[in-house]
Amino acid sequence: MINPPLALYAHFPWCVQKCPYCDFNSYTLKEQLPEERYIETLRRDLDAQAAAVEGRPLTSIFLGGGTPSLFSPNAIGRLLEHARARLGFVDSIEITLEANPGTIERGRFAEYRAAGVTRVSLGAQSFDPRQLQRLGRIHSADETRIAAEELHAAGLANFNLDLMYALPGQTPADAESDLRIALALEPAHVSQYHLTIEPGTVFAAAPPTQPTDEVVDEMLDRSLRLLVDAGFEQYEVSGYARAGTRCAHNLNYWTFGDYLGIGAGAHGKISDASRQIIVRTQQTREPRRYLAVDPEALVRKPVAVRDLPFEFAMNGFRLVEGFSDQQFESRTGLAVSVLDRGLAPALAKALVTRGRDTWRATPQGFRFLNDILVALLD
Ligand SMILES: C[S@@+](CC[C@H](N)C(=O)[O-])C[C@H]1O[C@@H](n2cnc3c(N)ncnc32)[C@H](O)[C@@H]1O
Ligand code: SF4
Repeated sequence: MINPPLALYAHFPWCVQKCPYCDFNSYTLKEQLPEERYIETLRRDLDAQAAAVEGRPLTSIFLGGGTPSLFSPNAIGRLLEHARARLGFVDSIEITLEANPGTIERGRFAEYRAAGVTRVSLGAQSFDPRQLQRLGRIHSADETRIAAEELHAAGLANFNLDLMYALPGQTPADAESDLRIALALEPAHVSQYHLTIEPGTVFAAAPPTQPTDEVVDEMLDRSLRLLVDAGFEQYEVSGYARAGTRCAHNLNYWTFGDYLGIGAGAHGKISDASRQIIVRTQQTREPRRYLAVDPEALVRKPVAVRDLPFEFAMNGFRLVEGFSDQQFESRTGLAVSVLDRGLAPALAKALVTRGRDTWRATPQGFRFLNDILVALLD
């Protein structure tokens, strides 16, 4: 095992309003945002975790949520400055901020950029007013358009638009229209997520009727054609990018890289090659408790060696190009031959292919990733 690149994920748990489909660790903000205290706690959290990664500069940072764009550029800048001083950045560092179009005032993106942000991920979801309302979104389609224009004007053309499909009552033509509008805003990256009904959400209690699998397949076929025609390449199950604009932070997850996780409920994964172990971390979930407890309350659990093939493959098979033998061996410390038995059934069903020194999922396998992975759990 060799220590892989190191990223940082910082979680911002509050939103203006909780969306009915969302099961992320996010909460409707009911009082004033405790901005100062939260940033201070994130900084202490980082300090407490930094000892485990001494001498390893950060290759990417993702400020995710929740809604990090509720925090002022000044507050974001203070966190980034601290991370740079404590851990160091590689020259090419990518720093992504997730933003909700309903929280962006004029001129704000330029200030985030000045604070160190290099990339923005904008939660568009749809441009159909009826869908935006059903999804409980706080913004209009026009606000998303304006936010995209502001991003270009601020010199942050490297932005992603999140879209959801398989929405209640949505036709392939509706989904295509959403994507066409999105592409007209000239994003560098598009993420398309199948709306899933997650346990414990408002939608789970009263599930909306979603399009059939056949209709969804047509949506996917049409959207892939549109994206390819517009110069995008699919490089991950839900990710499409123009040349040179793949998300470095997410690529690090999918290639089983390391990441520190700070903030309420944040997860981390840290390798220690000198001891040949990988440790997963999890912070206290509930924001009030997170603010009150010592950052040392972090839960640390070593990953069992028998779980490593599954954990690696769960990430690696999300990438269109799959993974190499060398990547598997250097990141898990195991011989790649440990995959042979578990992947044999998927290979026989042509859900995966074996190259000279690579494994990858086929287009059919992409739709049945769980079936591929289940066999690795035995
Ligand atoms: C954690 S959210 C953060 C983005 C930001 N808070 C926003 O919504 O504008 C990241 C993305 O996950 C997607 N997402 C959240 N819940 C989902 C669900 N149940 N099914 C599919 N996609 C979902 C949405 O596209 C969302 O933009
Ligand atoms: S989808 Fe985004 S805005 Fe909506 S509740 Fe989840 S994190 Fe908050």
